This record gives sequence, structure tokens and C-alpha cells, in this order.
Amino acid sequence: MNDAIRNYEDVDSWKTVIFLYNAALKEVGTKLEILNDEFQHVHKYNPIEHIKTRIKTPESIVKKLKRNGHEVSIENMVRYINDIAGVRLICSFTSDIYRLAEMIGNQSDLKVMTIKDYIKNPKESGYKSYHMLVSVPIFLSDSVVDTKVEIQIRTIAMDFWASLEHKIYYKFEGNAPDYISRDLRECAQMVSELDDKMLSLNEAIQACLEEQNGIDYVEERNRMSSVANGLIGGSYIKK
Ligand code: GTP
Ligand code: MG
Repeated sequence: MNDAIRNYEDVDSWKTVIFLYNAALKEVGTKLEILNDEFQHVHKYNPIEHIKTRIKTPESIVKKLKRNGHEVSIENMVRYINDIAGVRLICSFTSDIYRLAEMIGNQSDLKVMTIKDYIKNPKESGYKSYHMLVSVPIFLSDSVVDTKVEIQIRTIAMDFWASLEHKIYYKFEGNAPDYISRDLRECAQMVSELDDKMLSLNEAIQACLEEQNGIDYVEERNRMSSVANGLIGGSYIKK
């Protein structure tokens, strides 16, 4: 643990804060697993390939606070560092990203604080991903604490690019030669084309299957919703 935190006068506060972020990760992780199971149930496939969660290390928290010109304190860490608790959702197709984002936005106990759509507006580096900063209420024995979680949603291809780019960028400590940055941007473009191609292939396959089997998945979903509404007095599924 970084000295700035080891020597911090109120180590108990540090532990409490990390406890809260861990609880928030569990809450959000469970919600996402349930959404994935529902998706599997209705659409017959998993939009989420895998879910990764992590708590930012004390070293990175201190580094980020200093980089942004903030004094190292528990208060500043809670106020200014939005990605202490992070969830990464790796999806199959770009369309799944927006469906998942909508489903997350519809969870009435999650508050969406900010959205950054780096798929519609990729970063200068070529980075693509959909970021949602949400806050989730953590119910303690005597209080409720809203806790921030950064959710990054990407396709497998976007994650492949981002993971490798991160490794390369890290080695150069931000000073990669121009031709490397340019090649990385070109790779990002190839990865996007691959995603587009896979998405249209999947749509073509779905259309073929629907024609062969006569199953309309949208209709099937609506049928499931009305069954559930009937069972639970109409209060369960709003759409
Ligand atoms: P950070 O200080 O990096 O957290 O930036 P920010 O607070 O402005 O948030 P932003 O939405 O730009 O990025 C947050 C996270 O997205 C980062 O911590 C990375 O995980 C990821 N990210 C953003 N840009 C890039 C990029 O160019 N390459 C890679 N590999 N990851 C990126
Ligand atoms: Mg970050």
C-alpha cells in the first residue's frame, strides 16, 4: 500500500470506503448477471461474453489524485476519482452494448451520473468503448450510501484493441513514436470493420433462422412480459 495511505491518519475511513466500493461492485455485478440471464432466456443467447470487476489499487488512486492536482485524502478520493470501482462488460456485438446500456439505465435503483460514448465519438487514440458512471445505494445497518461505479461496455474486438494498446502505450509512457500511434489507429479502424461485419453476419443469420423456424423473438419477448405481468399484477415489467 502506498505510504500516503499507510500513514494516513484515518486508516479506518480508508477501509470503510474500500468496503463500500466492494459492496457496490457486488451489487452491480449481480444486477448485470441477472440482466444477462434474462437476455439468454428471451433472446436465446448471452450478450455478455464476460464481466470483469476490479478495485483501483491504492497506488493508482494516489497517482491519479496527484496527477489531477488534488491533495491525497479520503474525501478527495471519493469526490474526484470516479473509477475506484470498475466493471467491464465484454459483449459479442455493438448492438448488445446499446441494449445493455439501456437496460442498465432502466434499473430504477441505479442513478446514471454520466455517459461517455466513445463508440460514436472515438478517442484520438482510436479507443472505442461505452462508459457509464452510475451510483448504487448501499444499504448499511444504519444508513444508505450512494457509491460510484464506472461501467465500461465493449465488444470483444474493442477489448482486444484496448488491452494491447494499453500495454504498448504503457511501455512508451505516453511518448509513443508517431508511426506507432498511427498504426494503432489503423488497427482500431480494422477492429471496427470486423465488428461491423460480425454484426451484419449475425443479423443475416438471425433473419435466416427466423424464416426457417417461424419464431419472432420480439413477439416472444412481448409474450413473456405479458405472462409475467399477469402473474405479478402488472407491476413487474413496465415495457
Ligand atoms: P482516466 O483518468 O483515464 O480515468 O480518464 P477520464 O476520467 O477522463 O475517463 P475516460 O472516460 O477518458 O477514460 C476512463 C478509462 O477508459 C481509462 O481508465 C481506461 O480504462 C479507458 N481508456 C480511455 N482512453 C483509453 C485509450 O486511449 N486506450 C485504452 N487502452 N484505454 C482507454
Ligand atoms: Mg480510469
